[in-house]
Amino acid sequence: MSMQQKIIILDFGSQTTQLIGRRVRELDTFCEILPYNKFPTVEADLQSGSIIGVILSGSPYSVHDPEAFKVDLSQFVGKVPVLGICYGAQFISHTLGGKVEKADSREYGRAHLETIDLENPLFRGFEPGSQVWMSHGDTITAIPDGYKVIGSTKDVRNAAFWCPDISKTSNFNFQTSNFKLQSSKGVWAVQFHPEVYHTVQGMQLLRNFVVDICGSRQEWSAASFVDSTVAELKEQLGNDRVILGLSGGVDSSVAAVLLNRAIGDRLTCIFVDHGMLRKNEFQQVMDDYKVLGLNVIGVDASKKFFADLAGVTDPEQKRKIIGRDFIEVFNEQARALINSVEGTSEENSSPFTLHSSFKWLAQGTIYPDRIESLNITGKVIKSHHNVGGLPKEMHLQLCEPLKWLFKDEVRRVGRQLGMPEHLITRHPFPGPGLAVRILGDITPEKVRILQEADDIYIRGLRAYKVKLSGEEARRVLAAGPSPLTSHLSSPTSEVEVSLYDQIWQAGAILLSTVRSVGVMGDERTYENPVALRAVTSTDAMTADWAHLPYDFLAKVSNEIINKVRGVNRVCYDISSKPPATIEWE
Ligand code: XMP
Repeated sequence: MSMQQKIIILDFGSQTTQLIGRRVRELDTFCEILPYNKFPTVEADLQSGSIIGVILSGSPYSVHDPEAFKVDLSQFVGKVPVLGICYGAQFISHTLGGKVEKADSREYGRAHLETIDLENPLFRGFEPGSQVWMSHGDTITAIPDGYKVIGSTKDVRNAAFWCPDISKTSNFNFQTSNFKLQSSKGVWAVQFHPEVYHTVQGMQLLRNFVVDICGSRQEWSAASFVDSTVAELKEQLGNDRVILGLSGGVDSSVAAVLLNRAIGDRLTCIFVDHGMLRKNEFQQVMDDYKVLGLNVIGVDASKKFFADLAGVTDPEQKRKIIGRDFIEVFNEQARALINSVEGTSEENSSPFTLHSSFKWLAQGTIYPDRIESLNITGKVIKSHHNVGGLPKEMHLQLCEPLKWLFKDEVRRVGRQLGMPEHLITRHPFPGPGLAVRILGDITPEKVRILQEADDIYIRGLRAYKVKLSGEEARRVLAAGPSPLTSHLSSPTSEVEVSLYDQIWQAGAILLSTVRSVGVMGDERTYENPVALRAVTSTDAMTADWAHLPYDFLAKVSNEIINKVRGVNRVCYDISSKPPATIEWE
């Protein structure tokens, strides 16, 4: 295959930067999201055509803030096509001699492009009056010399502008760069957000930029990813053996199937049941894995976990114990496996020795886990909890075949690999499982009660279907697990979508530290409430509570109280994140 093309998205801290990335990927084009100050220094990438374009994101800052993020535009302007979005547009204008001023009032929400230069390649296929989404406190009152306005709304004259030939502009010293300028590598800037669904033709605009202007060959697809990754894994792993901890979730399952495709039985998976999974989940998932042909060791270690968790009420303490026990069980299993494969009988503290044929630990780490995010003090802060180094004494290397994928791409790859839909559309589930959904200490009986309530809730979410127009479905499924996410062709066609597929994550919580009075038949009860949680989100960093229909909530509440002994009250959690979190502990 020819060299992989990519778009670089420079992140100035906007909440929608990841969304830009996902949209570019939906155009079957690879992209990388980098902090604004980490543009690759390899000039060869620009010259060779591996970087085919640059997008500058929005930002919480005004260009006039002393701490505003700044970038040296000469690194890429004039070398590849550039698209500035919101702050990106303001920064281009401000830096190259235009003018950015405080708007009289914040411009937020829907607007319409009353004039559009339909001849401009960025607006090819646009409808006059097309709706766009604005969200900015500053406004661009003058554009730089050599630039031309190509789109205006009623309130924003400079809503979109471009410079076809950057070498003719006067306010920018391109001599600092020894790279030959090409007049076709123009600069486009839009004050609105093409990446959000409220910008009705936003996807068209991004397609125009990525495909027509930057020249993407659109070769990044689930099928090509599977082919090239399987080939790379074969090359990378040779005859080595790989071990992988399965959780039952989408990411680790897809990673396992992909590796299985590459190295077959040399992959061994370990799936630990800590006793706090969903009702019947362990068995169901084990059955699925068997059908997929995976080599899995399933371990019921629930007794150990329950014993070690007895009496523990502090959430972080629960997590620590579960994490520690998990490693102990995993290592024990790995040791037994290695001894049986290699005919040894070692009992050293780490099962992995330098000489073992097991040289790799595989993980289902995905791209959003690794994107460095910016906070508003300008420091790079986040590293995700499931991304960490390996202890040296483990003598293992990390293998992370999904590390470049967004969640929806992982699901597409799973489908490409022929995995069953129910495994692929599964909601995220925390590693410590129901342990962080039971307030107070944990007992097998409390877990059983919660499993029953949770099962009624989740089955109900899967069964309740809502008719949506294509346009609505595109919006509500944007963050969900359904295959319709990016492939709804007609915005007018009606589709039936389950509540489960419209939601990022849902679950029941047992408030076992709270008791309340109820009456059932002639009897007074004094039992625990269950809280139901359902959120919409794109990345779990922020989340909104899902507006579930009242008749659904009424039915589920009734069924839980009638069928689950020990529960006499059901509440629905209507808090968003922030300030609440998704999990209660
Ligand atoms: P919060 O509760 O922080 O959760 O809003 C954000 C996302 O992370 C998941 N989560 C965890 N996942 N181990 C995990 O593997 C954990 O300890 C853990 N705590 C929260 C949570 O389910 C949500 O998807």
